[in-house]
Amino acid sequence: MKILILNGPNLNLLGKREPEIYGSLTFEAFFEELKKKYNTIDLHYFQSNVEGELINKLHEVGFSFDGIVLNAGAYTHTSVAIGDAIKGIETPVIEVHISNVHAREDFRHTSYIAPNAKGVIAGFGLQSYELALQSFL
Ligand code: DQA
Repeated sequence: MKILILNGPNLNLLGKREPEIYGSLTFEAFFEELKKKYNTIDLHYFQSNVEGELINKLHEVGFSFDGIVLNAGAYTHTSVAIGDAIKGIETPVIEVHISNVHAREDFRHTSYIAPNAKGVIAGFGLQSYELALQSFL
């Protein structure tokens, strides 16, 4: 099974960025743990702060991979284009968030990803990604 974890803007700062919300582990360290634990999955990771690069990656893997775990960061709440990209590809996407976006500011309650996603997992810290992987399995 081929799965891509796709992270959007500012998620490269995990470990340093608002640790009280997002925790103190870097994504790279977490990804190494995930790869060891789920060694039967062909697991890939890509992060970009650039909206178009995220869309290009969705197009690149969206007709061959078995699943995409997407944390689009703040683009979740703004990007019609990422929502459209998910609509246009075949690979199912699970939307994830580290924090419980519904318990935060109102602007985080809107998602352009969710209407086109297989499901949404939010609020479980980095475990949100693991729950998404388990769902694909
Ligand atoms: C986030 C929630 C978003 O609202 C925020 O802009 C992020 C991270 C999360 O994982 O909790 O960058 O997607």
